[in-house]
Amino acid sequence: MINWEFLEDRHVIRKLKEIVGKFFQAEVFFLNENGVVQNFDRFDRQRKFHSPLCSELLTETAGCDWVLQHFQDLSDQVSRSRDAFHVFPGPLGFDKVFVARLEAEGEMFGTVMTYAYVDHEVSGEILEEAARRVSAKGLSVEGFHECVKRLKPLSAEKSSFFRELVDVVAREITTFVDEKRKGEIENQAKRSSYDQMRGHSKVMNDLYTILDKISASEATVLVQGENGTGKELIARSVHAHSPRSAQGFVTVNCSALTETLLDSELFGHVKGSFTGAIRDKKGLFEAAHKGTLFLDEVGDMSLTMQVKLLRVLQQGTLTPVGGTEERKVDVRVIAATNRDLKAMIEEGTFREDLYYRINVINIQVPPLRERKEDLKDLVKHFLENEHKKSGSPEKKLSESAFKKFYDYNWPGNIRQLENEIERLVVLAGADVIVGPELLSPAILESGTSGSGGGKGMSFKFSGKLKDAMEELERTMIKEGLRRTKWNKSRLAKELGISRAGLINKVEKYGLDKRKLAREGGGGEVA
Ligand SMILES: Nc1ncnc2c1ncn2[C@@H]1O[C@H](COP(=O)(O)OP(=O)(O)OP(=O)(O)O)[C@@H](O)[C@H]1O
Ligand SMILES: [Mg+2]
Repeated sequence: MINWEFLEDRHVIRKLKEIVGKFFQAEVFFLNENGVVQNFDRFDRQRKFHSPLCSELLTETAGCDWVLQHFQDLSDQVSRSRDAFHVFPGPLGFDKVFVARLEAEGEMFGTVMTYAYVDHEVSGEILEEAARRVSAKGLSVEGFHECVKRLKPLSAEKSSFFRELVDVVAREITTFVDEKRKGEIENQAKRSSYDQMRGHSKVMNDLYTILDKISASEATVLVQGENGTGKELIARSVHAHSPRSAQGFVTVNCSALTETLLDSELFGHVKGSFTGAIRDKKGLFEAAHKGTLFLDEVGDMSLTMQVKLLRVLQQGTLTPVGGTEERKVDVRVIAATNRDLKAMIEEGTFREDLYYRINVINIQVPPLRERKEDLKDLVKHFLENEHKKSGSPEKKLSESAFKKFYDYNWPGNIRQLENEIERLVVLAGADVIVGPELLSPAILESGTSGSGGGKGMSFKFSGKLKDAMEELERTMIKEGLRRTKWNKSRLAKELGISRAGLINKVEKYGLDKRKLAREGGGGEVA
């Protein structure tokens, strides 16, 4: 089974659709093997189209029937042909449908159809014929003529490039479906066991694999990632799936306390060891005995504290502040930080020996902007949470509000997303559909400016299209490198470019292996 809804959320596919729509006034449809369109709800009257033809035809029932039937007929023809790519006339006669056949293991599982207008000049005669067809279907002829005025034909150069784009969409889908087929059974099992965690992007699935692998282990884990990416949630999941799950999970935030306080928090103190120490107090290490101690913001610990921590980790014993007697503790440590500990080691602010002691297993949590495929799941999850908390009807984001979410960079990651949803639910009041007007200004303004160009173009287009294509190309190469585990020959073949060409692009986009690993690619077991 192909999950067509998933496809819509693939970063590359979404970007491609956006480019096709914005710069070519065309619409992309996915059809299953029976020629039924999967990404269009004929009853959704709110939907906006980039193509004037679609706005005209697909917002009326009669027009919908007409176009969808036409698509189905084309799909039939494609299923009987061996060719991978076709250009057919559309229902009007002068319009065009670009069709790419989707195939896995030699079998067609669907098509990508792009409805566009590419001709240079349409004679009066051709238009009249089209108008006759429009009127025969009971649609408005005036409306049709108005719509024709808004059509912008594509140049020959643009239309051949356009064809390539449609082809890229098809290839992306095929690769994705192949990938899914191979990993599907495994992934489904995974998703159910980390019930707090949402997301099924490639990076999240890799993360679940790592969590599975380490669940039986007792090793120390270091979780690294930007603010709000879910480090604590991961730490809790590791504990919950470990043999220690029946015992406590104790959290200490290393940056919130002064050195003296942290010292006594962690290791406890004996009565009279400092002013205010009026009785013996057990530290958090002892409180976590047989369980897990979560050292949050471990990068904020002073060097002196780092020495003490290392000693406990190495010897399994501690001495409370002001005490003389050593106590044994059995604690599994999970540490988290958003700081670059390697850079801190170089600066001399983090001890290398401690780093190696806590970094037995390393988990990198990718930022949200690197896994936007997860946005839908996360939004749904948080909307559900709000609904459960308040008991009011469950709300939905409108398609255009969601698009803004998609374009936004999410510097605050999942926490910021969670807060935004909470805010929206409050502001929306009794409305069930949340529109874009309520979004925070930063999110509302996202996606309105270019993505910042680079130098050395491979596309002959200028301005924003160039930026968009560059961003797309970078994303495709980056995701491809991860997917093929840096097999450049394979990826070059997949992308249809030479290996040397790929290497040039990798350099151009600054996609070196170490940098990508740091940006987060699921994680790795050290
Ligand atoms: N994959 C996920 N699915 C659902 N919710 C998530 C996911 N990841 C994080 N969250 C939620 O996002 C919020 C932030 O997560 P968490 O506190 O674990 O992040 P963090 O990396 O520790 O943040 P900080 O750097 O600020 O300490 C939490 O409410 C958490 O439940
Ligand atoms: Mg945290």
